[in-house]
Amino acid sequence: MSEVLSATELSRGFVQGSTRIEVLRGVSCAIDRGERVAIVGRSGSGKSTLLHLLAGLDDPDEGFVHVCGENLTNAGIECRAAIRNRHMGFVYQLHHLLPEFSAAENVSIPLRLRGETRKGALQRASHLLHAVGLEQRMTHRPSALSGGERQRVAVARALAGSPDIVLADEPTGNLDRQNAQQVFELMCHLSETEEVALVVVTHDEDIARSMHRVLRLSDGKLT
Ligand SMILES: Nc1ncnc2c1ncn2[C@@H]1O[C@H](COP(=O)(O)OP(=O)(O)OP(=O)(O)O)[C@@H](O)[C@H]1O
Ligand SMILES: [Mg+2]
Repeated sequence: MSEVLSATELSRGFVQGSTRIEVLRGVSCAIDRGERVAIVGRSGSGKSTLLHLLAGLDDPDEGFVHVCGENLTNAGIECRAAIRNRHMGFVYQLHHLLPEFSAAENVSIPLRLRGETRKGALQRASHLLHAVGLEQRMTHRPSALSGGERQRVAVARALAGSPDIVLADEPTGNLDRQNAQQVFELMCHLSETEEVALVVVTHDEDIARSMHRVLRLSDGKLT
C-alpha cells in the first residue's frame, strides 16, 4: 500500500500570556491509501490542532507533513492551495456550506476552483448527491436542508475533487445519534468505493472502533 499522508515529528505550542503550552510534542503518523483512521483523545489533547497541521491550515513549530509525496509544510501559499485542492477533502463539525448556493453548486465548488467547466462540475456533483441520497435536493439551498442533509452535502463536497484523503474534525458532532451513524456510514462507504483515505477526529467510541486503526493523543504524543 502506498502512503497518502505522513506526519514527521510534528511539534506545536501556543503562547498564552506568560505561559507556553506545548500541545503536540513530536507526533508522527502515516496514512495509507484507502485507510480509515480515527484520532481520539480527551478534550484539549490537541486533536483539532493536529488535524489543522495535517490539513495545512496551520504550521508546525517543528516537523513536516507530506501529502502524496509532496511537502505541504514547506510549500508556498499557492502551491499549498494546489496540493490541498488536488489531494485533500475536508468535513467540519459545522457544514460550512455557502448559503447563497444550491446543494449541487456547493458540491461542485472544489472542481470549479481547479478550472473544470460548470457542466462537468455539476455532473460530478449530481453523481455524488445521488450517492449520499440527496438526488431530490440538488437545487435546495443549505437553509432549506435538515442538519443531517447539510452534513451529507458537506461529505459529497469533500469527495467532489476525487481527493486521496478526507480529513474530518467531529463531522457528526452536531447530529443526533441516528443521523450521526448514517453520515458516518456514508463516509466509510464512499471512502471504500472511491478509494479515499479517511482521518476522523471523534469522541464517539463506536465510530472509532469501526475504523481500521485508532490513534490516541495524550501528553502531546500519539499512541
Ligand atoms: N490558537 C490558540 N492559541 C492558544 N491556545 C490554543 C490555540 N489553539 C489551541 N490551543 C490550546 O491547545 C490545546 C488543544 O486544543 P485543541 O483544539 O487541539 O483540542 P482538542 O483535542 O481538539 O479538544 P476538543 O476535543 O475539545 O475539540 C487546548 O488546551 C487549547 O487551549
Ligand atoms: Mg477539537
